[in-house]
Amino acid sequence: MEQINIGMIGGGTVGSGVFRALEKNSALMTARLGVKLRIAKVAVKAFDEPRPYKIPASVMTTDWTSVVNDPDIHVVIELMGGTGLAKTVVLAALKLGKPVITANKALISECGPELFDAAAKNNTNLYYEASVAGGIPIIKTVREALVGNRFVQIYGIVNGTCNYILTRMKNERAEFAAILADAQKLGYAEAEPSLDVDGYDAMHKTHILASLAHGFWVDKKKILVEGIRSISQTDIQFAEKLGYTIKLLGIVKAAAEGKNEKVQISVYPALIPQQHVLANVNDVFNAVFVRGDIVGDTLYYGRGAGKDATASAVLSDIADAATDIVNKTPRRVPAFAAYAKRATVMAAGDAVSQFYIRLGVLDKPGVLARVTAIFRDNKISISSVVQPETQAASTVPLIIMTHSCKEAALQKALAKIARLPEVKAKPVLLRVEHFE
Ligand code: NDP
Ligand code: HSE
Repeated sequence: MEQINIGMIGGGTVGSGVFRALEKNSALMTARLGVKLRIAKVAVKAFDEPRPYKIPASVMTTDWTSVVNDPDIHVVIELMGGTGLAKTVVLAALKLGKPVITANKALISECGPELFDAAAKNNTNLYYEASVAGGIPIIKTVREALVGNRFVQIYGIVNGTCNYILTRMKNERAEFAAILADAQKLGYAEAEPSLDVDGYDAMHKTHILASLAHGFWVDKKKILVEGIRSISQTDIQFAEKLGYTIKLLGIVKAAAEGKNEKVQISVYPALIPQQHVLANVNDVFNAVFVRGDIVGDTLYYGRGAGKDATASAVLSDIADAATDIVNKTPRRVPAFAAYAKRATVMAAGDAVSQFYIRLGVLDKPGVLARVTAIFRDNKISISSVVQPETQAASTVPLIIMTHSCKEAALQKALAKIARLPEVKAKPVLLRVEHFE
């Protein structure tokens, strides 16, 4: 029986998870695939770093080139992270015609076209299942299982760290700094956690999903990105009272069909109805809701981060890479096929939704009238207003929910409201999603 030797660059949270998962299930995979799989070498930065699972010293090296360039290594897995050396590693392996597997969404988002080009030129594949939504097989689903569909909407909770933080903020009424430290201990957070909390990790994943689903490499500068730093207990509790839960969402919404398709691509914390299934996706779990024009609504749920769930996605890529080698062909549904070059990203200001606005205002006569007059002048209809009764506070929260309107109109009105002398803090704006 043929044996595939695997070289792994990175043996941290995900890398050691992959090593351990293959130790556990390689016999099962051999039975299913008819090929032996062995992790022959693992490159790390330092041998004595603590790892969630042990990797034997006999396979470890600190020289990644000795892994990638070894002719006995057939498949290379990049699990070091970042977009610098990781890119060099991936390109070096692809140029040798070796299939490459990565969990690195920052790298795919930043350098996708160049990397997929290099794979095609060298007659091999670059696999990236673990880059989006951890253990959920969403890449294979969109790329292969739903290949016969146009993608009308993709909504996802795609960042485990933020979902873990928002869940605990809601359940324990705690602020997020302390909870972030726990997410780091559990191996969910990125090496640079601002990637998680400021929405950029979710943007990388949403960027990948949007490009895959819509057949053009999305210009990521056009993606609206907001993270969860500005979400406070006040917002969580008001959202709850109004019948909503706050979740960080990646959104890919086709706005118009035909020759000049526009796609809304955004990442932001949104209020979603408490009874919607995504409102009940908690902790590190992710869920991606995909509406295809043929299949209708589908939903994918699972752990979005962590060593074992992510390892499962990498194992699936290992199976594909090994099959390429055994079958002597890299032919698959292309990783990113450009078929819709006329599609463009919708300008953020053109998106239409309901909005939640929290202001900190002076509690005195006429303030509400001045605020609502600005909404009226901008033809924005208010659906509800809440001002909780507060004793002896100089400023009070004023929560306003609007009916659906264009984001540009709302932003214009909000800029004027923010300049009112009675408005004492930077307004908080959150969108409301009903998934219609
Ligand atoms: P870790 O920081 O835990 O692991 C990084 C690994 O890379 C470490 O083993 C480190 O070595 C190694 N490394 C760093 N520099 C070098 C170098 N110059 N040469 C060789 N090895 C090097 O990160 P994660 O495992 O959490 O993440 C890895 C990738 O997976 C990232 O792209 C991340 O975005 C992605 N990902 C992570 C998920 C998660 O839940 N953590 C989920 C999905 C994707 P040493 O051990 O000696 O420090
Ligand atoms: N930091 C990422 C998250 C890891 O929390 O979702 C999984 O991609």
